[in-house]
Amino acid sequence: MAVMCGIVGYVGEKRAQDVVIEGLRRLEYRGYDSAGIALVATGTIASDKRAGKLANLEKAIADRPLPPATVGIGHTRWATHGAPNDVNAHPHSGAQRRVALVHNGIIENFAELRVGIEADDVALLSETDTEVAAQLLEAEVLTGADLTTAMLRLVNRLEGAFTLVAVDALDPSRVVAARRNSPLVVGIGDGENFLGSDVAAFIEHTREAMELSQDQVVTITRSGVSVRNFDGSSAEGRRYHVDWDLSAAEKDGHDWFMRKEIHEQPRAVADSLLGRRTPEGRLHLDEMRLSDQELRDVDKVIIIACGTSFYAGMVAKYAIEHWTRVPVEVELASEFRYRDPILDYSTLVVAISQSGETADTLQAIRHARTQRSKVLAICNTNGSTIPRESDAVIYTHAGPEIGVASTKGFLTQLVACYLLALYLAQVKGTRYGDEIDEVMRQLEAMPDHIATVLASADAIYAMAAEHVDTRSVLFLGRHAGYPVALEGALKLKELAYIHAEGFAAGELKHGPIALVESGLPVLCVVPPAGRDQLRDKMVSGIQEVRARGARTICLVEDGDDAITPYADTVIRLPKVPVLLQPLVAVVPLQLFACELATRMGHDVDQPRNLAKSVTVE
Ligand code: G6P
Repeated sequence: MAVMCGIVGYVGEKRAQDVVIEGLRRLEYRGYDSAGIALVATGTIASDKRAGKLANLEKAIADRPLPPATVGIGHTRWATHGAPNDVNAHPHSGAQRRVALVHNGIIENFAELRVGIEADDVALLSETDTEVAAQLLEAEVLTGADLTTAMLRLVNRLEGAFTLVAVDALDPSRVVAARRNSPLVVGIGDGENFLGSDVAAFIEHTREAMELSQDQVVTITRSGVSVRNFDGSSAEGRRYHVDWDLSAAEKDGHDWFMRKEIHEQPRAVADSLLGRRTPEGRLHLDEMRLSDQELRDVDKVIIIACGTSFYAGMVAKYAIEHWTRVPVEVELASEFRYRDPILDYSTLVVAISQSGETADTLQAIRHARTQRSKVLAICNTNGSTIPRESDAVIYTHAGPEIGVASTKGFLTQLVACYLLALYLAQVKGTRYGDEIDEVMRQLEAMPDHIATVLASADAIYAMAAEHVDTRSVLFLGRHAGYPVALEGALKLKELAYIHAEGFAAGELKHGPIALVESGLPVLCVVPPAGRDQLRDKMVSGIQEVRARGARTICLVEDGDDAITPYADTVIRLPKVPVLLQPLVAVVPLQLFACELATRMGHDVDQPRNLAKSVTVE
């Protein structure tokens, strides 16, 4: 029924089928339960849609070719309700097949709209809310309204979140779309224009894009783009240039996007550090937009995020509290607003989201803003909803992350968190300028350290090869290594589908140690030796599990040999400060999960049941 997905629209001179399918291929990371296409061909809608990955649709079209056309829309689906079968796949049409429509989101009042349609004796074919919208749109077009007018009338009857993109069989000049709380961007070409859930959909054709606001309808024709608000008034979208190109969206010789993205991390971290200092050496964050006074007034920070981004938030807590002495809470976005959190104008809410579209995070920041708190987004996606709805933003510069499991997105989020912590310390005066300088120098050395870890990928791959029959893996960490342990476990669950748990090493003896049995692999993230207490406590934890038969794989900084007697395998990490250690320590865990999943025959880029950008709560 309701879905989150990738959406493409095209009008121009090229074969629309090729443009749409290629766009869907680049958006497939957003969902891959089913895919469909509709073209406007000499007064009719020609369409096909298939359950399963895009390849199924491509095969169907190859067997039964669609007629030539230069206007089309497409969809790749991630089902929330309603089986991912051929009938529920998009596009949907009205009973007379006059329009075709694709949709991302949930139309909340669809049941009542459906009753109205069925009362008019129209039989609906699918279970979807989308077909209801298609039917209503068609009814408007049949009254003689053009597609734009019909869309404006339709959206005013809908409740919920949606991006809709539609074509009219009798109007090959335009594609019309609407957006409310779901992503949509416009690609501006020469004699052609595009729509996509994100710019990857059309990056092969143009790097000029336009972002839309909420509650807008956009019409693209060969020669232009026009935007209207839902109330019918005209509006302007903001144009911007996309600063990455097609090569960034290709695999670059790697078997998986994820592996490529892991190897891009030195560059991604370096890019995320670029341009953050003034010539005088002070930290400067481009879109901070909060005044020094507003930041000085901050007496509590609450970080909200989901999945991997949540673990970046956990690391941020250690850094912000240490450098600024401001208390920090980290909370799962999906839990946040439902517990009636205590917020006011002096609370800074930090939302971390690679995609900028995660619905749980978006709803949490909306709640925070109603409580007058300031919201700062840490985000990788320019023009996405979360930064647009935040007071300030720190963009990470990871480039497009296509692999569903986040890697370079995570590392660059960590960088942004450190920058935020240091910036707060600078403004509040809790650290001297030379201390901040020193950390910045340490951060600027991190790309080389990450490259060093990547250079020994083969050793990790060999270790992964030994674990293909493993049914369970534990990860232990302390301090900033604890979120790393959680992230290592998440990667293994997401990619290899095996049981994996991350624990704070000190908590082990309070329960989880009961899981340890002979031969169980336990990955231990050992804090740098400079932190004697932490490191020594970790050593005790490692001894405890080893004594019970665990096979210990220890991530240890170079030169620290105290662990060696208790480690079955040692993985060396560059010598870095404890707070920055996650930037190097997580990399072997990413490589391990990627390789293990590959050897187990799983699809690493598109793990089962997952989607990269979860735009439903
Ligand atoms: C999904 C992805 C995760 C990601 C999480 C948060 O669940 O599968 O890899 O960490 O969303 O995404 P965000 O884009 O908000 O960082």
